[in-house]
Amino acid sequence: MISSREPSEAGPPERDKHSRRTVGSAWGLVNLTLTLALMLSLLLLGSKASDFRLPGNQQGYTPTQPIAFSHRLHGGELKIPCLYCHHHTSKSRYAGIPASQLCMNCHRFVQATLGAVRAEEKTAAEENRVPNRIVSTELQKIYDTLGLDSDLRPTREMKPIEWTRVHNLPDFVYFDHSSHYIVGIECTRCHGPVETMERVSQFETLSMSWCVNCHREYNGRVVGDRTLRPSIDCSVCHF
Ligand code: HEC
Ligand code: HEC
Ligand code: HEC
Ligand code: HEC
Ligand code: HEC
Repeated sequence: MISSREPSEAGPPERDKHSRRTVGSAWGLVNLTLTLALMLSLLLLGSKASDFRLPGNQQGYTPTQPIAFSHRLHGGELKIPCLYCHHHTSKSRYAGIPASQLCMNCHRFVQATLGAVRAEEKTAAEENRVPNRIVSTELQKIYDTLGLDSDLRPTREMKPIEWTRVHNLPDFVYFDHSSHYIVGIECTRCHGPVETMERVSQFETLSMSWCVNCHREYNGRVVGDRTLRPSIDCSVCHF
């Protein structure tokens, strides 16, 4: 049913065989068009209607997450550095989402908000029993994914938390965090004021013109002893 919409398997146009200068980019464009057509058919075929999004219309996307993890609390109030949890940002393509084990650096000790701990201690004293260690239903979910019992001893199998991705560039776009990190671009320049967000929201459009405009804007800026030349060649962002 989709085959009628697919372009025919045409090679590059005849004239390009004689013009070395344009061959590469024209081929790139044809490849890109094919890739796009393929992507679109795969999307239409493989995804539920509710998952289907056209490129570029996800600004403001704020999915609910399996655990009510707050960047406002952790990044803003507690001032935990972004890189403490997203340490891949400085050296790899992906920023990475931390594993539950990292949360345990603190949540082994912090099992509820201070208010909730006080309240539980009070009730337990009144009821003449030992206070429960875990009183937060949200943190309970972390302990569950790590297979820990009520004394935080491992008893069951671990399973990763399935966070819902907020940012989703199409597969035909190449983006790399580290090349932006090393020239000193702040997270907030592209992600907005994450440290104020209860739930992460896509702040920018992530459209092609957003990328390209910024590459133009930074052209010629000096960082340290280097003059920046962010490329606007198609092949830099599209293979
Ligand atoms: C700095 C990175 C960057 C460069 C350079 C770039 N693109 Fe893109 N391009 C993107 C991004 C990001 C998207 C996805 C936009 C979206 O999801 O809305 C995209 C999408 C596209 C699309 C899909 C249609 C659309 O507009 O969403 C086409 C076609 C395309 N690019 C062609 C090109 C061509 C041709 C060039 C060279 C003239 C080029 N791109 C250069 C980042 C780039
Ligand atoms: C204590 C760990 C922790 C800290 C600190 C932290 N994050 Fe996160 N971050 C997470 C987790 C867990 C997720 C996945 C759940 C979510 O989206 O809220 C996430 C998700 C994100 C996302 C969305 C990723 C996606 O799915 O597209 C962005 C953007 C982000 N963080 C940026 C930041 C920035 C910027 C800072 C610093 C102000 C920061 N984070 C600090 C743990 C952390
Ligand atoms: C550097 C320490 C630290 C790390 C790392 C950390 N947290 Fe926290 N988190 C805290 C503190 C402290 C509180 C309680 C703040 C308060 O008393 O209000 C908290 C509170 C929470 C709460 C709210 C609990 C409630 O009952 O309201 C959730 C949910 C949470 N954290 C999830 C996570 C997740 C998920 C991770 C790992 C991605 C994580 N935290 C990593 C320190 C940390
Ligand atoms: C130049 C813009 C830019 C900067 C600067 C930037 N990001 Fe991103 N970030 C993006 C884009 C674009 C995506 C979506 C990538 C994709 O879908 O492949 C993304 C995705 C993410 C994700 C989810 C996917 C992943 O890569 O693991 C996290 C988490 C994240 N960013 C955190 C951060 C943090 C933390 C910083 C600062 C240390 C930062 N970003 C700096 C543009 C940026
Ligand atoms: C805030 C401005 C800004 C935004 C937004 C931005 N970039 Fe960049 N980008 C840069 C700078 C600056 C460099 C580093 C150039 C250098 O090292 O000379 C760079 C480098 C790159 C590189 C490494 C290749 C090169 O030219 O050095 C790629 C790939 C790239 N960006 C892709 C993207 C894509 C895809 C997007 C959009 C999703 C994007 N960028 C958005 C500023 C930006």
